Amino acid sequence: MSSVPTLVTAELFNYLATRTTPETPFLAQLKSAALAIGIPDIWISTDQAVFMQILLRLIRAEKVIEVGTLAGYSALTMAQALPAGGMVDTLEIDAGHVAFAREWIAKSEVADRVTVHHGDAMALLPGLADGTYDAAFIDADKGNYAHYLQHCQRLVRPGGLILVDNAFAFGQVLAEHTATDDVWAIRAFNDLMARQPGLQSIIVPTGDGLWVGVKDAAD
Ligand code: SAH
Ligand code: DHB
Ligand code: MG
Repeated sequence: MSSVPTLVTAELFNYLATRTTPETPFLAQLKSAALAIGIPDIWISTDQAVFMQILLRLIRAEKVIEVGTLAGYSALTMAQALPAGGMVDTLEIDAGHVAFAREWIAKSEVADRVTVHHGDAMALLPGLADGTYDAAFIDADKGNYAHYLQHCQRLVRPGGLILVDNAFAFGQVLAEHTATDDVWAIRAFNDLMARQPGLQSIIVPTGDGLWVGVKDAAD
């Protein structure tokens, strides 16, 4: 076995993407409806959604905290991976996004497994109790990622998952010029995440780069 990884070219990526469990027609309709009212298409990719569902199923997750709802796409995909009685608590600051997500969640088959909380995650997270979640997904304003990580490490139980989107900074993490504040924030966050005590973490090259961290067991 070579230690040189196989570079995932566009052709190889297309090969894997077309051999990944497809998304449901309902979620495809949600995306079309979101685009039609001007919500940006910055939701997680379909292959990333399947990977996150598999991780949640493997740890038998029942409760998930999400930072950044947008149209509810990732919240609904995660909810589909939970058992009956499970819950995704998702936090969203934008009233228009909250209204759209609530409307589509209500129409879904997992309406009783998603609660959209309207507000600034920086204000909402401190009110949530330690160790009450099996997994967290951070995907909101990049400048606050370090704060969200601190909260999620507290909120997630030992052995729980901390997932973080956009480790590749919209494809610009290695760009030499024209780095925006968000790109710089992600670069700093990536350096922090890799050295975070109590977490074992790796960036998985799905979507725009997905951090997968597992919180150490309590000793
Ligand atoms: N997780 C979603 C995409 C989230 S996009 C999906 O994959 O389907 C990022 C979202 O974070 C946007 O809807 C934005 O309004 C929201 N957001 C930005 N800053 C926030 C904050 N401080 N608190 C809560 N939500 C925030
Ligand atoms: C943007 C934000 C995201 O979370 C994402 O996955 C892609 C793009 C953005 O702010 O442009
Ligand atoms: Mg994202």
